[in-house]
Amino acid sequence: MHPMLNIAVKAARRAGDIIVQASRNLDLLSISKKSHSDFVSEVDRAAEDAIIRILRESFPDHAILAEESGASGDARNAEFQWIIDPLDGTTNFLHGFPQYSVSIALKHKDILSKAVVYNPNNNELFTASKGGGAYLNNQRLRVSKRIRLEDCLIGTGIPFRDLTHMDAYLNIFKDIIPRVAGIRRPGSAALDLSYVAAGRYDGFWEIGLAPWDMAAGVLMIKEAGGLVSDLEGDDTYLESGQILTGNPKIFSQLLQIITPHLTETLKANHRSAKKITGRKSKAT
Ligand code: IPD
Ligand code: CA
Ligand code: CA
Repeated sequence: MHPMLNIAVKAARRAGDIIVQASRNLDLLSISKKSHSDFVSEVDRAAEDAIIRILRESFPDHAILAEESGASGDARNAEFQWIIDPLDGTTNFLHGFPQYSVSIALKHKDILSKAVVYNPNNNELFTASKGGGAYLNNQRLRVSKRIRLEDCLIGTGIPFRDLTHMDAYLNIFKDIIPRVAGIRRPGSAALDLSYVAAGRYDGFWEIGLAPWDMAAGVLMIKEAGGLVSDLEGDDTYLESGQILTGNPKIFSQLLQIITPHLTETLKANHRSAKKITGRKSKAT
């Protein structure tokens, strides 16, 4: 394993230990509310501190973007930036619902190059390196081969904090339900994306994600042969927070279903993300 990926795995496992330890005593946790339906516990912070400590020890010059402590280091000039979600699926964690993960990605010159998503409940470790493939533990991952939507299991995230795009979301939802075999909403986007890479889902979409929810999972999918875009087929997902992904065949079919439902607000959200990226390329 590449040394940088190795350190990221060590950090993810350390965070996982902290999370599992705390999950045994959920009643003792101190929890605060960041905003509507947005909770943070001391575990999110302790896991993030542990990850950052381990990364900083080996890579003192790298920039960091972490959910709880924000940006540190010189993101503009640093060659490397780590993107960290110390506990993805906090609501599940707080309810003892065992679907959450640690997500760590590394960008090199603004391109995703390493990814780790770790589920401490079942010890599933997803890793990817740009050009080196995606793995679940030691097994190479490929996206699913299904081509008929009616056979597909599709993952999603239902909006619950920012409800701005609820109507568009529900219209998309209604349109997809009758055409697929099933829809799931387990509650950890980093795992959801890793499941697309693993072929467990054939596709996934969500609106309103943050870069730390997506960065690692996106590289996982690309390295497993899947496609990723925003809801208009462009590559602004990290900036716009809207994401669509799947195996190549199912991705295109979902995109066709979704685009007629895009509202002016969603399109405006996409346009401003496009200005930030300044890129025009299609799904990658
Ligand atoms: C959340 C989870 C969830 C997604 C939310 C995210 P958090 O992350 O990934 O699946 O639907 O949008 O914010 O807050 O538990 O780290
Ligand atoms: Ca998250
Ligand atoms: Ca989180």
